[in-house]
Amino acid sequence: MNIRKGMVLGFMGILATSGALAQKFEGLAKTPQMGWNSWNKFACNVNEQMIRETADAMVSSGMKDAGYLYVNIDDCWHGERDVKGFIHANAEHFPSGMKALSDYVHSKGLKLGIYSDAGWKTCGGRPGSRGYEYQDALTYAEWGVDYLKYDWCETNGLKAEGAYLTMREALRKAGRPVLFSLCEWGDNKPWDWAKPVGHSWRTTGDIWDCFDCIEDHGTWQSRGVLQILDLQEGLRVHAGPDHWNDMDMMEVGNGGMSVNEDRAHFSIWAMLASPLIAGNDIRSMSKETAAILTNKAVIALNQDPLGVQAFKYATRDGVEYWFKPLENGDWGFMALNRNKDARKVSFDWKKEIVNDDLSKRDAAFGKTRYSLQNLWTGRAAGNTAKALTADLPGHDVLVLRLSAR
Ligand code: GLA
Repeated sequence: MNIRKGMVLGFMGILATSGALAQKFEGLAKTPQMGWNSWNKFACNVNEQMIRETADAMVSSGMKDAGYLYVNIDDCWHGERDVKGFIHANAEHFPSGMKALSDYVHSKGLKLGIYSDAGWKTCGGRPGSRGYEYQDALTYAEWGVDYLKYDWCETNGLKAEGAYLTMREALRKAGRPVLFSLCEWGDNKPWDWAKPVGHSWRTTGDIWDCFDCIEDHGTWQSRGVLQILDLQEGLRVHAGPDHWNDMDMMEVGNGGMSVNEDRAHFSIWAMLASPLIAGNDIRSMSKETAAILTNKAVIALNQDPLGVQAFKYATRDGVEYWFKPLENGDWGFMALNRNKDARKVSFDWKKEIVNDDLSKRDAAFGKTRYSLQNLWTGRAAGNTAKALTADLPGHDVLVLRLSAR
């Protein structure tokens, strides 16, 4: 072998062993992921009993049947690292250990999610994964974890893309397929680089349990439903199957909003193809909350295989009109009343030019007649030959499915 050929082969060897990056686990979120997460309701008060009961409730409440799959433990499950650096669950709150818990969740036909952080500490001050990425990924795989939410606290000096890539590589190396949910709050524009890295990325800071407010924490702010919605402007072009804009876990059923507002919140998340991660106590939710979270017709808008996020077509008198192209030529439609008080709305389909550059779809209301299904009442609502008129309560929505067939 001549020297040059030897050098080339040697170089290729280095690439094969260390240089060539793997891919994310493809196909785990062809439609936005659905599940539950502990943070919004329980914050740091997590324990195995509550997680088991939540898995039970996912089944008994009909949520599993409606498509919810992941039971996700957020921050504060952690104990300490051992002398070799391996992380352990908090023994007081998770006495049976994570493997037993994942076995239990799996026995219900559900999947288990866990939380860590790209920095030295999590936002709740627990051990972060920085410097332990490969060990942590291996531990999660041994525990049978199926989903990782990866946060961005205590990351001074780190570059986001590199930090998230490191964990993607570690998960790959550990070998167990894990849905990778980036939680970097949109600070470093993950929509520009995270498609090959993870399955979804948070687009904003944390949600607050209100419809229209900003909660100031001093150095940071949390936002209500409308404030999060407004920050999605321009982002829909970046989302699609296996790579979603994540508007944060839901507050439906947590008491800060009226039933109207919860319904509007859920509809917005569905239309914008956000992951649908419930954030309430599903063991004791009201009938109204369960009916919102398990509305299969609204969920079908979110889970539509085309995977195109809705766009805002018009705003008139504080009422926004949104359209979502769906498979088979259907459309999702949402009229969202941002006003506190009621509005009479009218929408004369045949006079509206609704087309979408992104999906190259044209509703062609002048030529095509669609039948209308009201997805919150479950009733047929006429067709597009006639102008739509409706009374819309404050902070509420009208959601329709338009079918050309
Ligand atoms: C950050 C995240 C939240 C939650 C908390 C946990 O604020 O954005 O979703 O995970 O940390 O400490």
